Amino acid sequence: MDIKYDPEPTLARFHASDKFFRGIRGPIGSGKSVACVMEIISRCLEMPADSRGRRRSRWAIVRNTTAQLRDTTLKTFVEWIPEELCTITRSPRITGRIDSPLSDGTRLDVEVIFLPMDHPRSERDLLSLELTGIWFNEARELPLNFITAGLSRCGRFPRSADVPHYWSGGIADTNSPDTFHWWYHRAVEKTPENWEFFDQPPALLCENGKYLPNPAAENIRHQPKGARYYLDMVDGADPDWLDVMVLCHYKSLFDGKPVYQPFWNENIHVSKTPLPVERNRELYLAFDFGLTPACVAGQLMPNGQLRILREWCSENMGLRQFCRDLLLPDLSRDFNGMRYIVTGDPAGAQRSQVDRDDSCYAELARNGLSCTAARTNDFEPRRRAVINRLTYLSGGEPGYLLDPSCQMLRQGFTGGYMFELINRVGEGGTLRYREQPAKNIFSHIHDANQYLCLYLQPEATAVRDGFRRMMDDNRRRMNRLRDRDILEV
Ligand SMILES: Nc1ncnc2c1ncn2[C@@H]1O[C@H](COP(=O)(O)OP(=O)(O)O)[C@@H](O)[C@H]1O
Ligand SMILES: [Mg+2]
Repeated sequence: MDIKYDPEPTLARFHASDKFFRGIRGPIGSGKSVACVMEIISRCLEMPADSRGRRRSRWAIVRNTTAQLRDTTLKTFVEWIPEELCTITRSPRITGRIDSPLSDGTRLDVEVIFLPMDHPRSERDLLSLELTGIWFNEARELPLNFITAGLSRCGRFPRSADVPHYWSGGIADTNSPDTFHWWYHRAVEKTPENWEFFDQPPALLCENGKYLPNPAAENIRHQPKGARYYLDMVDGADPDWLDVMVLCHYKSLFDGKPVYQPFWNENIHVSKTPLPVERNRELYLAFDFGLTPACVAGQLMPNGQLRILREWCSENMGLRQFCRDLLLPDLSRDFNGMRYIVTGDPAGAQRSQVDRDDSCYAELARNGLSCTAARTNDFEPRRRAVINRLTYLSGGEPGYLLDPSCQMLRQGFTGGYMFELINRVGEGGTLRYREQPAKNIFSHIHDANQYLCLYLQPEATAVRDGFRRMMDDNRRRMNRLRDRDILEV
């Protein structure tokens, strides 16, 4: 068998690890898929021979759709494992079979099952397999339950009675997912003991809006155009796409229209450092209710800047549990003794969302948070209130500043909180979007954020202040006229 493969540094570390699950994250074209194919073949070669002198393994290769499995994954596989070594059968499902003598007198005996996840039978098929290992190709497209199910099938072939101890487990490769993805949770927040993640360097660097080749980028030597391959992508590509596919940022690629486009700007509106809590200043809390209560906490600075310090999000949790388990412990730990000003969805005052004869406002009041309803829950004024904040500058400072810990708000701003695409119709393929934002994991915390902005609306305050100033001026002028006996009142 003659395969020439010389892995890049990150991929060499991936091959050297014996963890049960290993993941590679990197830019497009960095050699991830090739590394996974080579990992499979080298683990198969390392399999101890059984009593008949056969090194037996069975692998599954998983991809989200049949088309991608056939057109991308299988293609890489046969490019690196030639068909004279591995016989591919394409029906009823794609399988590969290696049965080949090795120079030490043993035989390599491998079965590879290609599994698309878009088939109705796929989950059942996966759960019926006895495997040595599994490769999750482009893992950000795969839900965690497939990963868990797949891993539960590994280490079952060959049976341990037949051969001494051998490695078994899962490998995965992916372009960057978003920060809500299981990959991010496991790679960045809490990595299971027997899992390991390998991050390749970005293909390009972006400095002051200019894209440059990254000297540390991998697999450049195997790209026919070298770093040009990436530089040529830059013009005409969506910056979000480049952030994910080339710069390897953890970020979502959404296909709706972000609600705050083009007003939101990560560089302006997200603080680079954690925002301090000003203990002598009021803490504003704003709520969205319903089955997914959400709350934001912010402070208003003397220059008019609204600083969002904290967000609390929930899923399928009543307001009572939300307060008891999430909000109140945090308030008493981090914002103890401060004066709270509370606002929220006006619907929470009327509708009973806690239980039959109780309102959300009553529930909040019981927790010492008496709430003043925002003046409306119509969408347009709420959106305008946020846009006013985003676009308002005071002495060079933005009117709205987000603490870097507020990931849900931030991801919502960058596109998760969006108007869904209805269809591509009309002349020139005009895109049509829904008029109300999609209800999703980002919308509830954004509703809460809107109630806060509405409550503190600079527009309303400015009009009120202007009106007061005008009345004061009038009064002063009338007094002056009266003093000079011009006016008889
Ligand atoms: N070690 C290597 N030696 C030679 N060519 C390689 C090597 N690794 C990757 N390539 C080539 O680089 C290209 C991109 O590799 P691929 O694994 O498909 O990237 P990714 O999966 O990261 O998008 C492919 O044409 C592949 O054949
Ligand atoms: Mg790939």
